[in-house]
Formats: sequence, structure tokens, C-alpha cells
Amino acid sequence: MPRRRAVLQMIVIGVVVGIASGGVAYFIPWLPDQASKEAEAIDAVYWFVAIICGLIFAVVAGVSVYAGWKFRAAPDDTDDGAPIHGHTGLEITWTVIPTVLVTAMSVYSGVVLTQIERLPDDHRVVKVTAQQFAWRFEYGEEKLTTGELVLPVGQTVKLELTAEDVIHSFWVPEWRVKKDAVPGIVTDIVVTPTKEGRFPVICTELCGLGHAAMRARAVVVSSEGFDQWVAEQRRAAEAGAAVQGKQLFTQQCGSCHVLADAETTGETGPNLDNVLRGKDAEYVREQIVNPDSRITPGFQPVMPKDFGERLSDPQIDSLVEYLVSVAGRR
Ligand code: CUA
Repeated sequence: MPRRRAVLQMIVIGVVVGIASGGVAYFIPWLPDQASKEAEAIDAVYWFVAIICGLIFAVVAGVSVYAGWKFRAAPDDTDDGAPIHGHTGLEITWTVIPTVLVTAMSVYSGVVLTQIERLPDDHRVVKVTAQQFAWRFEYGEEKLTTGELVLPVGQTVKLELTAEDVIHSFWVPEWRVKKDAVPGIVTDIVVTPTKEGRFPVICTELCGLGHAAMRARAVVVSSEGFDQWVAEQRRAAEAGAAVQGKQLFTQQCGSCHVLADAETTGETGPNLDNVLRGKDAEYVREQIVNPDSRITPGFQPVMPKDFGERLSDPQIDSLVEYLVSVAGRR
């Protein structure tokens, strides 16, 4: 009879703890809005695991509170407890139940992971590069690089993550998906945003002094809004490259070449207003990095051959872009 009462008391404590922790879990909105197709399945796994943990917590708390309450040593009691040699039934129970639960959690998580990482054929790819302490997003198809991740709603995107210096971690809470960005390798995330709006991109790997401030913005827009954004970014990028290209030209090339657009007057090399007329990017690039490949009649091969090393790739790109835009205008 006392044994049955003890079990009953433990159950009552367990139920009270279970209801209290269940209430804390249920009535406080712990999770942010779901804004991706993957979020629902991920949340289901989360709650599956949380409920199992809650039940185990209630059992452990029930037994611990009961033991602390009933078996407290009296002030003058210095005896050791009675020796016990285990309990086979109990040991089997506490081995089998956790084994079943852990297996269930891993199988369920594995199934969901396979599901959410399935990539449809018509997906977009965006390269995400992390560095202390900023995010860079590259749209290969659209030839854009931005500091803000803009995506069309309802379209699956594969984010290819990497890092330049130390390990960072990409996370958008509303999308639920999260993965490390690691120097030297490419990891990927598949996500399908389902809600338009602005969401924070957060670095969740302690990566240095600026870690806490390493945030960017993910903006989800309609597909028309996305096309419009791409067009605007392209225009801005071209204008920026042309401005940079013109500056570079004036500094690096102007003392030897005439170019009306840049108001340069050097006469050591050919007049570019003439030789560049109608030329394409490939020709212009070749003439910059390998000037002796074609010598304009009447000129000596004196142009430095190391512009390919002296200038960075983006500098050469902007120079080429500028010269081609000038060549096309005349
Ligand atoms: Cu990057 Cu923390």
C-alpha cells in the first residue's frame, strides 16, 4: 500500500510539472512567423522533440522532487542508505524507452531533412559569401553582387555558402533554415520563401568582435518586383562600373592615349577614339592585358605588359566596361 501511494505521489508531481512546462511551451509564442515552405516541417520536428523532452522532464522532475521530499536525512541521522543491487526490470525500461524515442527522433528528422533539401529543376542559385563582418550575395544568372538578399516569393532558391576568413553561419529565423559558411568549402541551403517582407539574416557562429553586428537583410518580393529590382541593380552596377572605369582610365592610361570622353590627350599610344571604334569587350581586354598581341601600325610596343597584374579583376572589368561603352557611342 505505501508503495502504491508513493507511485501515485510521484505521478501527481510529474503531472503538475508536466502541465506547468507544457503551459510555458504552449502559451508563449516561442517561434517567429513561418515564412518559408520548409518552416512547417521543421517546426513539426521541433515540437515532436520538444514534447518528448517535456515528458521526460516531467518524469525525472516527479521522481527527483519526490525523492528530495521523502528521503531527506533527518538532522541526527548519519546512517548510510540500505544497499540495493539494481532492478533489472527498471533498467530494461530506462534503456528501451530512450532507445525507441531517440531512434524515432532521428528517423523523423532524417525524413524531413531529405524532404526539405529536395531541389526542383527550376531553382535559382545565389552564392552567399561571409566575411568578418558582412554578407555578400552573388546572382550568377543576373550578374549581380549585392549586400542584401532579394528573392522572389514562391521560388525555390539554392544558397551556396562559403566564407573568406573564419567560420560563420547563415540564418534567417523566419525561414528556419540555418547552415555554417566555412572557408574553403561550399555548403548549401535550399529554401522557398512563402511570405513577402523583410527578414533579418543573422550570423550565428561566434566569428570575432563584430559577430553580433554581422547582419544583413533578406527581402522577399513578388516576381515582378524581383525583375524590376534586377533591372535597377544592373543599371546602377553599370553606371558604377563606368564611373570607376573612367577614373581608372584617366589615372592609368590617359598620359599615353587620347580619349575624348575622358578628356585625355597623351600621344605615346594610339588615339583610342579611332582604334576602339566598334570594338568588343574581348578585344579591349586583350589589348589591356596583352598589349603586344596587336600593334597599331606606326606605334612601338612600349605599353607596359603588366596591367593584368597591376589591376585587380574588378578594376579591369570596369575599365573594359567603360571603354566598350565609349566605343559603342561613337
Ligand atoms: Cu560571422 Cu558571426
